[in-house]
Amino acid sequence: MKLKYIPFAVWPFLVVISSLYNANALFKFTNVKCKSYNQSFCEFKRCELKIVDRGVVGLFLHVKANQLPINSVTCALSFFRRFSGYRPFLYNITFDVCNFLKNRKRYPFADLVYDGIRNFSNVNHSCPFNHDIIVNRMVLDDNMIVKAPVPNGFYKLQFIVRADGDWRGEVEVHAEVNWGYGN
Ligand SMILES: *[C@@H]1O[C@H](CO)[C@@H](O)[C@H](O)[C@H]1NC(C)=O
Ligand SMILES: *[C@@H]1O[C@H](CO)[C@@H](O)[C@H](O)[C@H]1NC(C)=O
Ligand SMILES: *[C@@H]1O[C@H](CO)[C@@H](O)[C@H](O)[C@H]1NC(C)=O
Ligand SMILES: *[C@@H]1O[C@H](CO)[C@@H](O)[C@H](O)[C@H]1NC(C)=O
Repeated sequence: MKLKYIPFAVWPFLVVISSLYNANALFKFTNVKCKSYNQSFCEFKRCELKIVDRGVVGLFLHVKANQLPINSVTCALSFFRRFSGYRPFLYNITFDVCNFLKNRKRYPFADLVYDGIRNFSNVNHSCPFNHDIIVNRMVLDDNMIVKAPVPNGFYKLQFIVRADGDWRGEVEVHAEVNWGYGN
């Protein structure tokens, strides 16, 4: 079958099929970078990828909060695709994290990302935050990408966080998507 020439409308359906049947499909972390803008506010004790299971890459983050509680949090969330260098791709939103945690439906893209993270982290509660932020052994699940089908390629998701009035730091997560056939 020449998947290359199938119209876009058929895509989501194909994606479901391929995630069920294509053992070569691949959705994996390739890199993570973290930066604190001010160590007296927060520090990254951990920011790494590690193989957690035969070939499966897990994401580990530990943000040590040095000034608690944190009452207001804003996140600028941007998605990039790599061509020659990373270019903004499809999503770029800035949202109030405390409001989002109360009403997740308002930000579908943030909700999708949050859905991927929440089982592996301690962020699932309302503001204020009065503890470190930890993401432990997060793995990517093909079901996540099925909800936002994107073509084969290399991607970057960037989080820039503002807390209690100042921009405090950023996390960049790089991932590769490969459905196992050209597109
Ligand atoms: C760093 O953060 C601390 C604690 O919030 C603050 O007192 C200090 O002014 C900040 N430094 C800079 C350079 O912004
Ligand atoms: C996202 O949008 C904001 C506000 O419109 C803009 O300042 C920022 O440069 C954009 N980021 C990217 C990666 O395009
Ligand atoms: C998170 O956990 C819930 C409940 O155990 C499960 O239904 C859901 O599929 C999990 N999501 C991810 C992305 O692992
Ligand atoms: C997140 O918190 C809400 C409210 O406490 C709860 O209903 C929901 O099950 C939690 N989800 C996860 C993945 O822990």
